[in-house]
Amino acid sequence: MNPKWWKESIAYQIYPISFMDSNGDGKGDLRGVLSKLDYLQDLGVDVIWICPIYKSPNHDNGYDISDYCDIMKEFGTMDDFDLLLREMHTRGMKLMMDLVLNHTSHEHPWFVESRSSKDNPKRDYYIWKKGKNGGPPNNWESYFSGSVWELDPRTDEYYLHLYSRFQPDLNWENPAVIDKLHEMVQWWLKKGVDGFRFDAIAHIVKAEGYPDALNPGGTPTVRAYDMFSNLEHVHTLLQNLHDQVLYYYDIMTVGETSGLGPEQALDYVGDGRRELNMTFQFEHMNLDAASPGSGKWDVVPWKLTDLKKIISNWQTVLHDRGWNANYLCNHDQPRSVSRFGNDLYYRIPSAKMLATFIHMLEGTPYIYQGEEIGMTNVAFESIDDYRDVETLNYYEEKRTAGVPEADIMAAIHTKSRDNARTPMQWDDGEDGGFTTGVPWIRVNSNSREINVANAVKDPDSIYNYYKKLIQLRKQHQVIVYGEYGLLLEEHPEIYAYTRTLEDQRLLVILNFYEHDPVFELPEEFQAAEKLELLVSNYPAAKEDDLRSLKLRPYEARVYLQHLSGKA
Ligand code: GLC
Ligand code: CA
Repeated sequence: MNPKWWKESIAYQIYPISFMDSNGDGKGDLRGVLSKLDYLQDLGVDVIWICPIYKSPNHDNGYDISDYCDIMKEFGTMDDFDLLLREMHTRGMKLMMDLVLNHTSHEHPWFVESRSSKDNPKRDYYIWKKGKNGGPPNNWESYFSGSVWELDPRTDEYYLHLYSRFQPDLNWENPAVIDKLHEMVQWWLKKGVDGFRFDAIAHIVKAEGYPDALNPGGTPTVRAYDMFSNLEHVHTLLQNLHDQVLYYYDIMTVGETSGLGPEQALDYVGDGRRELNMTFQFEHMNLDAASPGSGKWDVVPWKLTDLKKIISNWQTVLHDRGWNANYLCNHDQPRSVSRFGNDLYYRIPSAKMLATFIHMLEGTPYIYQGEEIGMTNVAFESIDDYRDVETLNYYEEKRTAGVPEADIMAAIHTKSRDNARTPMQWDDGEDGGFTTGVPWIRVNSNSREINVANAVKDPDSIYNYYKKLIQLRKQHQVIVYGEYGLLLEEHPEIYAYTRTLEDQRLLVILNFYEHDPVFELPEEFQAAEKLELLVSNYPAAKEDDLRSLKLRPYEARVYLQHLSGKA
């Protein structure tokens, strides 16, 4: 089973601008994070993934870096950073940095030089092309709407940006760029950081010759996706990064790799590949998109049987060959309880059920800030209350196309990235205790009810349930390393699976809906007295008959069984 600390860890993601504001300017910062380390330690967090904190003009909240070796002034100073890292290490926690290697900010000195003239030595740090037939070099579309090409009048050439036009893509065909990036990664490692989440890493290589994509009329995912995602040469570049830099440190690495299944993911994370420890996959994040070609905004109800198919496939293919990163939410996705649970009538039980689902799978579980207290989506009435560049671009594009306001806002309410970016709700005071100033984005109006202070003192809270799940992981190796097996494959409402390690077997039973289906224990488990209930989101009666168990809305139960019969 090849034990590793990062397999046994729990990761917690911090989106710093929305986590905790220490100085009243309305934006979260490093001192704010520092003030909450004890809270995170109490929860049981091992690794903190912090979203970008580098110097940035913030067109995409730090994912547009203008200096890799400096701290964003809104977040504090390098001294604050050093202190934070020290204080984390003192508490036995590790820090995973979020590193954007696919692109920089347009304000990065490299780009400022690059765009200044065609013969500037830094010209080739980015991807410049001449236009074609009076338009851009090809038909690729950006993730954030419109063409990936931006015409720069100064030299009358286009530069490529897969994301916003303030995020020009670096040219990984240029060895000088690679050297600089390697040097910078090493610089952070020498400082003592414990790992990296590599942003958009699947896209650092683009199709040779930059040909037009097929499928015009689709969205980026279909239209140009193949042209810049998971191309073969990415692996050579990652292997070089690994062999020349990462290999020398005991760190944890995770890549953001959309558009692949588990077989392809093995190219990144397979044992012996010398690339990454794990990747974030997106198949389950696309379950509620109308069609792969329609993009994220066109929402349909998702099916539990599809979720089972996807997750089971990842669990099975990667077992003993790679490692999973399991999540239901991050800073780019809607809130998990609003999307996969029921935030209206069953917020607490459904949030606990979803937590059980993620924490009992094989792979490293990721908690996104606020998920541990069941924070929900927001529905601001006016577009003026939204801040996210993707959301604002989408709104503009649809308005221009004549789509009714109500339809656009409905899509934004379900899918906007700002759902996950409203400030962390710490207490029932004004603005959820996040800031004493004016928050950079409005706080969810439910902060008086849903907040950390309430959650910590309530023994039945979602927070205390998470704590329990995390403790169980530390107590039972089978939760970390056990082999996954799916039960009741076709059941439309119950997701049940097992995890087996030597003579230990877990049985996980999850009701994903508000109905009360009956769970029937498969034949092989019927020695019922050997099943020990580890955790449940409802009080479980001792006399429950597991051979035929009526589940309550969103009920979750985890049992441990000793196969040899010995307790
Ligand atoms: C990743 C990040 C997202 C960002 C984008 C561009 O997808 O998670 O927040 O906008 O990369 O860096
Ligand atoms: Ca601040």
